[in-house]
Amino acid sequence: MKLFLDTANVDHIREINEWGVLSGVTTNPSLVSKEGRSMRECLEEIAGIVSGPISAEAVSQDTEGMIREARELASIAENINVKIPMTPQGLAAVSRLSKEGIKTNMTLVFSANQALLAAAAGATFVSPFVGRLDDIGNNGMAVVEEIVDIFDTYGLTTQVIAASLRHPMHVVQAARAGAHIATVPYEVMVRMVQHPLTDIGIRKFLEDYEKIKDL
Ligand code: G3P
Repeated sequence: MKLFLDTANVDHIREINEWGVLSGVTTNPSLVSKEGRSMRECLEEIAGIVSGPISAEAVSQDTEGMIREARELASIAENINVKIPMTPQGLAAVSRLSKEGIKTNMTLVFSANQALLAAAAGATFVSPFVGRLDDIGNNGMAVVEEIVDIFDTYGLTTQVIAASLRHPMHVVQAARAGAHIATVPYEVMVRMVQHPLTDIGIRKFLEDYEKIKDL
């Protein structure tokens, strides 16, 4: 499973990219608005850091508007794909954009049926939102499992991005469910590295090294 970072913060992207674990980035208007910069400025800088796929979201509600925005966003850098919301207008936009060769990430997906439609329309990626389903008392990861299972059965090439992940166990569960990609918030990525036994182990090795270093 590949790891994407779910953020528009370039400092965080640079830091995690240094670890050599980052395969891509996803953004959305809420994440960009936290940075107090324009969408274009953020995307240009992110594209200068990350060579893997970068998702940028269209905000139009109508198909023509989505397509116009998608062309503009995709022209910023060759690795930008366009997040399109799961609506009838969004499906029509994804279908036309896929024929134009513009990569898409169908977003705000909450059911296996929605994912099936996204794949049928030609989406490159589909993003089931796990945490937001958990928030309303549903089992978000069960939807990821269903989608992966269906896509496997029919050999569908749309890649599943487990999104709206809130804690490290979500990442493990996404990997076990067979998601192609997990898009992980910065704070969760940092917590994935940590383990108290690692810290205790390092401290003990350093203490013991102090005893032998002058021998
Ligand atoms: O990638 C979609 C993700 O950013 C949504 O996360 O935490 O706002 O539900 P969240």
